[in-house]
Amino acid sequence: MPVERIIDTKDHETDAEEQKVEVTLRPQNFKEYVGQERLKNNLKLAIDATKKRKEALEHVLLYGPPGLGKTTMAGVIANELGAEIRITSGPAIERPGDLASILTNLTDSDVLFIDEIHRLNRSVEEVLYSAMEDFKLDIVIGKGPAARSVRLDLPHFTLVGATTRTGALAGPLRDRFGLIHRLEYYNTDEIIKIIERAAGILRTNLDREAAKLLSTRSRLTPRIANRLLRRVRDFADINNNGQINENIAQKALALLEIDELGLDPADRNMLLAILDKYGDKPVGLSTISALTGDETSTIEDFYEPYLMQIGFLERTPRGRVVTNRAKKHLKVS
Ligand SMILES: Nc1ncnc2c1ncn2[C@@H]1O[C@H](COP(=O)(O)OP(=O)(O)OP(=O)(O)O)[C@@H](O)[C@H]1O
Ligand SMILES: [Mg+2]
Repeated sequence: MPVERIIDTKDHETDAEEQKVEVTLRPQNFKEYVGQERLKNNLKLAIDATKKRKEALEHVLLYGPPGLGKTTMAGVIANELGAEIRITSGPAIERPGDLASILTNLTDSDVLFIDEIHRLNRSVEEVLYSAMEDFKLDIVIGKGPAARSVRLDLPHFTLVGATTRTGALAGPLRDRFGLIHRLEYYNTDEIIKIIERAAGILRTNLDREAAKLLSTRSRLTPRIANRLLRRVRDFADINNNGQINENIAQKALALLEIDELGLDPADRNMLLAILDKYGDKPVGLSTISALTGDETSTIEDFYEPYLMQIGFLERTPRGRVVTNRAKKHLKVS
């Protein structure tokens, strides 16, 4: 990523301070977790039922754009179950042996959270199949002709997987999840609640009008809402004794170059570059990537979902097309 973007919804690259704040802002239970009502209702039901039967919860797959609360929800599930959570990610589990050691260290009803589960490598994924399905671990001991395979019993754990792309997930893996849910973009009322909650935790003075304004600039995404709040708070600390009102928020957003729809210069440049070079013609992902200098995965994960959500970009079989709506916003004819 060429410049640090406020809308950048990645959390792994940000500094320690930012990560610490994210953790303090993370809702711990269903009550604190704003929105995603359908998901919460489904999970509540499943959790109540499993508690009653004293079983482990079925495996849960959460998917959707970055920053909508997948990792947060994994923690909430564990808390609501009264279970321990063990957190890892697809790229961190390099070999089947790594997974084996994680699995054998779990106890009954534990939650194992695998972030970016679409990035598990094949050999690891295969071990996961029988672990998920039968709670068995198939391992090979020894080498060459003396090698033999043994089957170990595993505790009855619950796997929670998160991914920004279900398309990238192998069918057999996907099929082994009992509960599969897409996280939706939030509406502005929900984002207002999230901002006000975060302001409370951060002991920041923010009025309703300012919260409303920030909610319209946050790409309907909690992580961005919280991040904008913090940047605006910095601005208010210096310019207005820490008081965030609409006027101060306006000024801070102008400084950050975030427009009325939450687009930043990088979004606008991408759309303008496509229009400039290709006009109404569909363009492929790799072409866009060449135009902006971002990786294709960055474009797919960070730029596109929101631009599609607001109808600025359409995906056609022949490529991506910038819509008239986007042109109007960018004042391009
Ligand atoms: N429903 C919610 N209510 C309140 N705050 C939320 C909610 N969802 C997310 N957040 C806030 O947004 C931040 C980002 O959420 P989270 O890390 O769970 O996103 P994610 O979907 O896992 O993103 P990624 O795909 O990048 O891993 C959290 O620190 C949390 O404070
Ligand atoms: Mg996450």
